[in-house]
Amino acid sequence: MSKFLKALVIGTALASLPAAAVAGDPAAGEKVFKKCAACHAVGDGAKHKVGPELNDVLGRTAGTAEVYKYSKAMISAGEDGLVWDEATLTAYLTKPRDVVKGTKMAFAGLRKEQDLDNVIAYLATFSADTPAAEEEQSSAEPAEPETKVQTAEASATAKPTPELREGGTFHLGRKATEDEVAAWDIDVRPDGTGLPEGSGTVADGEVLFTDNCAVCHGDFGEGVGRWPVLAGGQDTLRNARPEKTIGSYWPYLSTVYDYVRRSMPYGNARSLSDDDVYALTAYLLYLNDIVEDEDFELSKDNFTEIRLPNEANFIPDDRMEEPHYAQKAEPCMSDCKPDGVTITMRARILDVTPGSVDDDDASGVGGVD
Ligand code: HEC
Ligand code: HEC
Repeated sequence: MSKFLKALVIGTALASLPAAAVAGDPAAGEKVFKKCAACHAVGDGAKHKVGPELNDVLGRTAGTAEVYKYSKAMISAGEDGLVWDEATLTAYLTKPRDVVKGTKMAFAGLRKEQDLDNVIAYLATFSADTPAAEEEQSSAEPAEPETKVQTAEASATAKPTPELREGGTFHLGRKATEDEVAAWDIDVRPDGTGLPEGSGTVADGEVLFTDNCAVCHGDFGEGVGRWPVLAGGQDTLRNARPEKTIGSYWPYLSTVYDYVRRSMPYGNARSLSDDDVYALTAYLLYLNDIVEDEDFELSKDNFTEIRLPNEANFIPDDRMEEPHYAQKAEPCMSDCKPDGVTITMRARILDVTPGSVDDDDASGVGGVD
């Protein structure tokens, strides 16, 4: 029997037991569990998150779920004999730090007795080792039709099946429609995948740029005030404050097309036609001296023939082959630098968009782009 089915059968057991045996209501407990769900998973296929998975937590010795990195405090609490049952869980979930001094569970605690009872009843539906569950397992062995009906009922109240959930794990939102996905799915890749039909010339682009872009980026892409510079900057990448532009820094022309089409003009995104974007991309190539002929026409067909000067200085993302990724080990999340951390620089400008007077006054030294 899968763990999931087992949980359903146990759910039946708890729902039909006299109130004295289980104080809480598992269905109400599922709602309380939303407070835990940011850090804990429970149910079929549950994995460790910030906190350990909580299947079979009733009857578990504290700090003993496989491959989870507990605090030293939790491990020694288990070694000292702490086992999770209704009483110990009630105490721990009321004030975690009072029960396990030094636990890394950063949770203030549940205040209402009813919430505590309910969430523990909910967790009990995923725990095989409670006395109630053991009883049920032996009596539930022959799968009679009646049991099946009960199981289905219990699944509706005690633990909804994935099909009953709307809006995914967190019950938020709804599924995007195909049209909505299509409207967002406009990315263009370096190899030209995703380019729409169309074309535009440098000369067309110049007119469009003057009308739609120059107010911020300057007539020649030099940038007005602190609005971004779009051209120039060649040979500045080794400087303390390099000028990173399409011509000096960007690796792929597809990013220019994609970015302008998706987000420019700033404040009026998606107002340009695909042909306009080809023309503007051609003009940006011209401003960066990558093409020199005003009659040059950029199109879907010749797009990938154009290469930006800095492409060779980018390397493919090879993180998956790096040792710690390849091992699939838990990443280090605290005290990772053996000899401590020192602050060497402070970011004074956190965005490049001019907004307040303070932004314009900032010197830019040590800024983060
Ligand atoms: C902000 C994250 C967070 C929240 C919220 C949270 N927990 Fe935890 N929980 C943890 C962490 C981290 C641990 C491991 C503690 C340790 O090692 O000291 C833990 C440990 C536990 C344990 C001990 C498990 C074991 O294997 O020994 C239980 C039981 C538990 N949590 C239940 C809950 C319940 C029930 C809730 C909601 C009412 C909750 N937690 C909310 C992070 C959280
Ligand atoms: C109202 C001001 C404004 C207008 C008009 C505008 N932009 Fe921008 N542009 C911005 C800002 C601000 C950014 C930086 C946004 C960010 O980093 O989040 C930007 C960034 C860019 C970038 C990326 C620069 C880089 O190196 O990161 C390109 C390319 C660009 N704009 C092209 C255009 C084009 C083409 C037009 C005309 C169709 C246009 N912009 C119109 C304000 C503007």
